[in-house]
Amino acid sequence: MKGIVIAPLTITNHGIPKMPQNQFDSLTNYWIGFTIICMKKTVTLFTPKNWHYFIILVMIKYSCFKVCVMKLVIGITGSTGVIYGIRMLETLKNLNIESHLIMSEWGEKCISMETEYTVDYVKSLADNVSDEKNMASSVSSGTHRIDGMIVAPCSMKTLAAIANGYDDTLVARAAGVTIKESRKLILMVRETPLSAIHLENMLKLSRLGIVILPPVTEFYTKPKSIDDIVNHVVGKCLDQFDIEHSLYPRWGSC
Ligand SMILES: Cc1cc2nc3c(=O)[nH]c(=O)nc-3n(C[C@H](O)[C@H](O)[C@H](O)COP(=O)(O)O)c2cc1C
Repeated sequence: MKGIVIAPLTITNHGIPKMPQNQFDSLTNYWIGFTIICMKKTVTLFTPKNWHYFIILVMIKYSCFKVCVMKLVIGITGSTGVIYGIRMLETLKNLNIESHLIMSEWGEKCISMETEYTVDYVKSLADNVSDEKNMASSVSSGTHRIDGMIVAPCSMKTLAAIANGYDDTLVARAAGVTIKESRKLILMVRETPLSAIHLENMLKLSRLGIVILPPVTEFYTKPKSIDDIVNHVVGKCLDQFDIEHSLYPRWGSC
């Protein structure tokens, strides 16, 4: 058998632990598809010397990739802008990224007060849901592996709890665990105007590496709808995790 070696296969060995499932899937699908197409055209891709590349690729695709799925904890608290948390969950679901949702009591109330969505619909978007009072939830422990956490939106009360290590709700506890385990935490803080107390809490957390990402509207992409505005902020959050998305057009790409 004559053959061609797929040298770029080695790129699949890099970045796998942090690669979201959709990217990983498309990458491996691409190479497997490429292989099959080539085989149909009777182009031989593997020589007896490097047949093991193919076996490794198939093993990664069908057995190992579940280990690589990104898992994020999403907190929705009682500030205006719960639509950001909802859009975040919808997007993660579309991208096959695992989500574990915690909603505060006022987060749930805000969903009914300012959106057309039901709390049950929002819960249905997540892979796992924990009650904010359930301190025995998996996400209450650092031993539970997650890639990071996003609180969207984050009220000033929850911000204060996180900044002071006052873990009275599961959102605050899971955020505290995310910090102590040196994982990525993004707080989509929402209040205006901001008092010195709010700003001090944000500064304290920012100095620890927590990303303070308020849902500030941009106009340079000329948003035409509220959806455009919401998508842009959600996209900026996902950028922090290097998650590929098409929620907004990137500057210089149109
Ligand atoms: C409709 C509505 C909008 C609110 N918007 C904000 C807000 O933008 N920022 C904020 O910090 N609190 C806001 N609050 C007040 C919080 O809900 C309140 O402080 C609550 O105790 C937060 O608790 P939680 O962080 O556990 O959800 C709002 C409350 C309501 C009912």
